[in-house]
Amino acid sequence: MRVIIRKTYEEISLAAANLVKARIKKKPELILGLATGSTPVKLYQELIRMYQEEKLRFVFVKSFNLDEYYGLSSDHPQSYRCFMNTRFFDHIDIDKANTHIPDGRTKDPEEFSAWYEEQIRGMGGIDLQLLGIGSDGHIGFNEPGSSFSSRTRLVALDAQTVSDNARFFERKEDVPLSAITMGIGTILEAKELILLASGESKAEVVAAAIEGPLSSMIPASALQLHPRVTLFLDETAASALTRKRYYHFAEESEQNLGRELF
Ligand code: GLP
Repeated sequence: MRVIIRKTYEEISLAAANLVKARIKKKPELILGLATGSTPVKLYQELIRMYQEEKLRFVFVKSFNLDEYYGLSSDHPQSYRCFMNTRFFDHIDIDKANTHIPDGRTKDPEEFSAWYEEQIRGMGGIDLQLLGIGSDGHIGFNEPGSSFSSRTRLVALDAQTVSDNARFFERKEDVPLSAITMGIGTILEAKELILLASGESKAEVVAAAIEGPLSSMIPASALQLHPRVTLFLDETAASALTRKRYYHFAEESEQNLGRELF
């Protein structure tokens, strides 16, 4: 696991955007896994800026989002489809037909989930998956207790997640209580993972995920099993880590060896 710590949220967003840019430059037809939540917003803004000012192209990119609320139609303002369109897709040259987000209104979640997995597999798998982390350690909507080998499926949301996400809805009662999410097993099959975390409210759970034992109670600890993960943390999100000095040292050593960070 590579742990990159920067002072501010802006700096980690830019560093993560640079990694995404490098991967698209190397493989223009990248299969990109995308995430929602407030954390990746600035990263998307950076990518939009790179599209506008640095000629970064998304025409050949195909994307798969991690999750969607169950019960919300794609035009609901709090649906993740709406989030992705307004925050990212509407501002770049990606073909919307190449963007995939679980269908929150499917009548048959099981059949839909199998189809979603098939689409990912059919395109050769996800090259780079972006992740955030919930305050209870979830990735996608895989709540504590999710199997490390879980696949895309309909899940019930934890009360903590419902209350964390209530800020986006007019009333707490409006927050959906379930979602369709890629499983942890699905996420671990991506060739590369990056996770962003910002703010003190994530510090304890980030430390548990990176430095604690593997546990389904901290779904993000599953990342320890993946061979190619980079975590981008701002100082507050990194504040409970015990090995910060080592992470800085490891980053410096890579640079001294002339290895490109991204
Ligand atoms: C949601 C999403 C997750 C996201 C998490 C954290 O529940 N399903 O993918 O990582 O929230 O959100 P935020 O970045 O707003 O803290």
